[in-house]
Amino acid sequence: MKKLIVLGATSGIAQAVQRKAAQEGKELLLVARSAGRLEVLRQDLLVRGAANVLTFAIDLDNIEQHARLIDFAQKNFAGFDTLLLAYGSMLDQTQCDHSGELTAQQLHTDFVSAAALLTAFSDYFESRKGGCIAVITSVAGDRIRRSNYVYGTAKGALTLFLAGLRSRLRGAGVKVITIKPGPVNTAMTAHLENSGRFADPEMVAQDIYRALQRQSPKIVYTPGLWRYIMMAVRAIPEPVFNWLVSRHGPSPARSKKP
Ligand SMILES: NC(=O)c1ccc[n+]([C@@H]2O[C@H](COP(=O)([O-])OP(=O)(O)OC[C@H]3O[C@@H](n4cnc5c(N)ncnc54)[C@H](OP(=O)(O)O)[C@@H]3O)[C@@H](O)[C@H]2O)c1
Repeated sequence: MKKLIVLGATSGIAQAVQRKAAQEGKELLLVARSAGRLEVLRQDLLVRGAANVLTFAIDLDNIEQHARLIDFAQKNFAGFDTLLLAYGSMLDQTQCDHSGELTAQQLHTDFVSAAALLTAFSDYFESRKGGCIAVITSVAGDRIRRSNYVYGTAKGALTLFLAGLRSRLRGAGVKVITIKPGPVNTAMTAHLENSGRFADPEMVAQDIYRALQRQSPKIVYTPGLWRYIMMAVRAIPEPVFNWLVSRHGPSPARSKKP
């Protein structure tokens, strides 16, 4: 890995990955919505040792604008070999429950726009016959829970999509990595009960960075214990699972009390 593009570069998890890349003198192209926040990150990563840091501000929900980003990357960040998709949102499930619009918005950000963007980047990777595409989905996509099922559906759909993309790009020598974190203590989860007990972004970033460098394994659970937790959780029949969740709340997706 020499040249890394990060989609959702202002995310708590992505920032920790970027700091590791900077310390090893990599080149980075940071992508998120806020030009101001990207510039702050750019300056910080240069101080930490990054060889070069470019930024590109864009709302990735806007699929018509994706071509502009890919054009920019090919012209100004030529030869990039690694892509990390880290952007996402987690809307309040209780609001999604009563709003088709919010439900569609959640599915759009975390699945539809991501699938569109990965498809567009895949043509580039296929033609260069190598490189690595890594995408952060979630353990929430492995087993749907009442408390965040729209978010979980989007992540589960993205995980399925990545299995197809991996199969498509295998012949071209392009590695596709699916990253499934358990709950992580970032801005996304700060409002949730017990968020202080969630995994440290640095620990999760360590697992992600190692996978980017090795271009493997295909599926990364992080922290690693989640591989075994989800293996067990997936095996529980739906009625039993729902009974267990209702009996042993509070759910991790429940907001802190005001
Ligand atoms: N935290 C967890 O417990 C957890 C667990 C499993 C999986 N994940 C997944 O891990 C990834 C990173 O999560 P995080 O916790 O680090 O999140 P975070 O700190 O809340 O950051 C979310 C990022 O997504 C970007 N983003 C959201 N919508 C965007 C859009 N339409 N266009 C461009 N950028 C957009 C934000 O950029 P702006 O600066 O533009 O707002 C921000 O960089 C997400 O995909 C999340 O679903 C998180």
